[in-house]
Parts: sequence; structure tokens; C-alpha cells
Amino acid sequence: MSSFVTAFRLGVLVLLALVAVPAPGGAQDTNRPHPPSQDGDRLQGQVKLCSACHGENGIPQEKETPIIWGQHLGYLYLQLKDFKNGDRKNEQMGPVAEPLERVDMLALAEYFSKKAWPRTAQPPAKDDVALTAARANTAVGCTGCHQNQYRGEGTQARLAGQTREYLFKTMLEIRTGARGNNPGMTTLMKATSEEDIAALAEYLAGLRFSQ
Ligand code: HEC
Ligand code: HEC
Repeated sequence: MSSFVTAFRLGVLVLLALVAVPAPGGAQDTNRPHPPSQDGDRLQGQVKLCSACHGENGIPQEKETPIIWGQHLGYLYLQLKDFKNGDRKNEQMGPVAEPLERVDMLALAEYFSKKAWPRTAQPPAKDDVALTAARANTAVGCTGCHQNQYRGEGTQARLAGQTREYLFKTMLEIRTGARGNNPGMTTLMKATSEEDIAALAEYLAGLRFSQ
């Protein structure tokens, strides 16, 4: 492991320790004034932690880390809740979500959902890849749930412009059940070949639409 990565991981651990303070609203809070900035400071501390992996400008540091800027509020909240209660397992997100209270998860989901989806340098898929992705969509009806142009909505994830490596990894994990928080998606991915999943990941990563 490079010293940069070691230093980076260490930094994240320090940030984790910093944000693991009790949530406001506990019994001890009722007797003292509640400065309006307190919740804002708490949120900013947590956002700083998120940015260490999900990116200061919305572009994640690692390609297998998903974009969360501009993702839908309902979907973001559900994923944080699933990481917290262990329905979705990930060694990086588990410890991050574990200390979060419901109010934190709602505030974070709202905060990130209001950001603009970042522009990545991922190129549009070539015609043959786009055709394979379109056929897979016809067979399974992805856009029936993920909406026109894979924009997502509410608790449905936006997929357009998501990081290719993350999309590929998470679809395979949904397929094997390693990511088992939505059994319906697991059934659909089992019915989709690995080649089609690769084409879908490439197509979705390069998909643009005007906001
Ligand atoms: C140590 C790095 C790290 C930190 C810090 C971190 N994340 Fe993550 N996050 C990840 C990784 C990696 C994944 C992908 C997990 C997987 O593959 O299942 C992820 C996934 C997510 C997802 C699911 C997105 C999707 O498309 O399904 C959400 C939501 C999320 N993180 C929110 C946050 C928030 C909010 C914070 C700050 C409180 C945060 N993360 C801090 C690394 C991190
Ligand atoms: C019946 C509705 C439905 C259909 C059809 C469907 N999905 Fe999904 N998909 C979902 C739901 C719901 C989730 C969120 C699962 C969760 O809560 O973890 C999801 C999650 C995903 C994710 C993870 C997103 C992220 O940010 O981690 C990907 C990728 C995905 N779907 C791709 C597809 C593709 C590609 C197809 C078509 C081959 C498809 N889905 C068809 C409902 C559907």
C-alpha cells in the first residue's frame, strides 16, 4: 500500500472519530440554549468525511466509489439506512453509517440530493455496446423502474453518468446476492448475462442528458 493511501485512510479514521459525537436532541440538550448553527456544524463535519471518499467536487477518489452528488433523496436515505442496519454490507460504508442517527441520514440525503450531478470524463458508449444495452433493457425493462434515460426518481437510483467501475461491481454483487438489500433486483440481474451487465455499465456511465 502506498504511503499516500495509508495517510489517506488514516485521515478518514480521524474524521470518523471527529464526527462520532452524540446527536443533538438528547436529554442533556434540553436545559441549554440550542444555537441554530449546531446542527449545521454537525452536518458540515459529516459532509467533510463523505467528501474524503465521494469527492470534494462530487467526483469520487476511487472508481469503485459511487457518485452521490445529485442522487435522489429517497434512494440516498434508504442506502444509508441499509448500511447502518447491515442489510447492505460494505467495509468502508458500514463504519461510516453505523454512528449516524435518522436525522443525520435525512440531512445528508437532502444535502447531497441538492448538489448538481458532476460531469465525468466517461465517453459515450460505441454503437454496438449501446445496442447490447438497449436489448438488455428491452428484455428486462430497466427504464420501467429507473425511469426514462435512467434518471431515477425517489427511491429509484439515477444510473445515468454513474461511475462505470462502480456500476459493474455493484450489478455483479447484486447478481450474486453479496448486495442483497433488494431481492427483486437480484432476480433481474440473475436473468442478465455478465456480458450484458458489462455493456450496461459502459452505456450508463457515458449516458448524458440535459438537467
Ligand atoms: C472510506 C470511504 C468512504 C467514506 C468516508 C464514505 N463513503 Fe459512502 N461509499 C463508499 C464506497 C466504497 C461505497 C460503495 C459501497 C459498495 O460498493 O457497496 C459507498 C456507497 C455510498 C452510498 C450508496 C450509493 C449508491 O449509489 O448506492 C451512499 C448513499 C453513500 N456512500 C453515502 C455516504 C455518505 C453520506 C458519507 C458521509 C457520511 C459517506 N458515504 C462516506 C466509500 C465511502
Ligand atoms: C422492478 C424495478 C426495477 C427494474 C426493472 C430494474 N431495477 Fe435496478 N434497481 C431497482 C431498485 C429498487 C434499486 C435499489 C435497490 C436498493 O435499494 O439497493 C435498483 C438498483 C440498481 C442499481 C444500483 C444503483 C446504485 O447506485 O448502486 C443498478 C446499477 C441497477 N439497479 C441497474 C438496473 C439495470 C441495468 C436494470 C435492467 C437490466 C434494472 N436495474 C432493472 C429497481 C429495478
